[in-house]
Amino acid sequence: MTDPTQLEHDLLAAIAAAKDVRALEDLRVAALGKKGSITELLKSLGAMSPDERKTKGALFNQMRDRITQAIAKRNEELSGAAEHSRLLAERVDVTLPAPAAPRGSIHPVSHVMDEVIAILADLGFSVAEGPDIETEEYNFTKLNIPPEHPARQMHDTFYLNREHNPAGTLLRTHTSPVQVRTMQRAVSSGAFPIRIIAPGRTYRRDSDATHSPMFHQVEGLVVDEETHLGHLKWVLEELCKAFFEVRELKMRLRPSYFPFTEPSIEVDIQCDRSGGEIKFGQGEDWLEIAGAGMVHPRVLEMCDIDPRRYQGYAFGMGLDRLAMLKYGIPDLRPFFESDLRWLKHFGFSPLDIPTLYGGLSR
Ligand code: PHE
Repeated sequence: MTDPTQLEHDLLAAIAAAKDVRALEDLRVAALGKKGSITELLKSLGAMSPDERKTKGALFNQMRDRITQAIAKRNEELSGAAEHSRLLAERVDVTLPAPAAPRGSIHPVSHVMDEVIAILADLGFSVAEGPDIETEEYNFTKLNIPPEHPARQMHDTFYLNREHNPAGTLLRTHTSPVQVRTMQRAVSSGAFPIRIIAPGRTYRRDSDATHSPMFHQVEGLVVDEETHLGHLKWVLEELCKAFFEVRELKMRLRPSYFPFTEPSIEVDIQCDRSGGEIKFGQGEDWLEIAGAGMVHPRVLEMCDIDPRRYQGYAFGMGLDRLAMLKYGIPDLRPFFESDLRWLKHFGFSPLDIPTLYGGLSR
């Protein structure tokens, strides 16, 4: 029989030198398996005298424990190394293309706003802006809607802190206050003629399938010498033909009333509703698309513009409705519910409309 001390020494050396988990397992079987060298040592105790068995037994059992521990320790080292080399093999390849980031889409109202701006920019209009929180002065008074005028009630206005609010701030009920702001600015800077559009948010206490408390309008204003209704009609015709992408389109002007225009008109365009969906530039039906008129001389005067020298025309239309009409969206409410599935379905990709969102490439 091999000297047990020598055996343990050799085994511990072999365990420490084991190259991988498999070699270590072979060593374990060779030492502690059924026919392993340590197992054989323990078996040999049976043939010993009780005295000898007592001392050798303790010795051999301690040996077995040390071998078992050494194997466990080496196993840990080796599997740690295995883990390490697995991680090395799987390390991140920074040269791989990045996973595609989720891409948003352009909201139909934003898209229609961009379309209308692009068309009117071609006709020489620039974009003007005004605040969503307006004063009564700009939203009403300077538009020839004095306090107690019934038109103020018709607008279903959201007022801000009415009691503690001497300036009478409110959420603008239309984009027309931008007319006033623009005329005042033009007077102080001498920048005539005026040719602006003002797209933006507007607010009224109104809510159903086609009305939302927050909606969008685009205002148009031209102030120049010798402007007349014919100019207004031509601009709106060009706008509608370009927007609805038709060559010909009949337009009908109906007399109407707005306190800030005189004469005031409502503008209808020809359409065809017979086929279930609405088509423009054909058919016998009419659809109202804008309120408009010649800027009231009193509005010009309130902005210190001499109405004997300057005339102007103005128009206002609802952008949400234009989006619904052009893109066949039946209900206005989901416009502002932020449902990603709806936005994905009705939204636009800037990449698909290079003429409008020029310069963006794939
Ligand atoms: N501001 C009017 C509205 O919201 C529309 C309009 C604009 C009418 C400009 C005439 C001129 O109903």
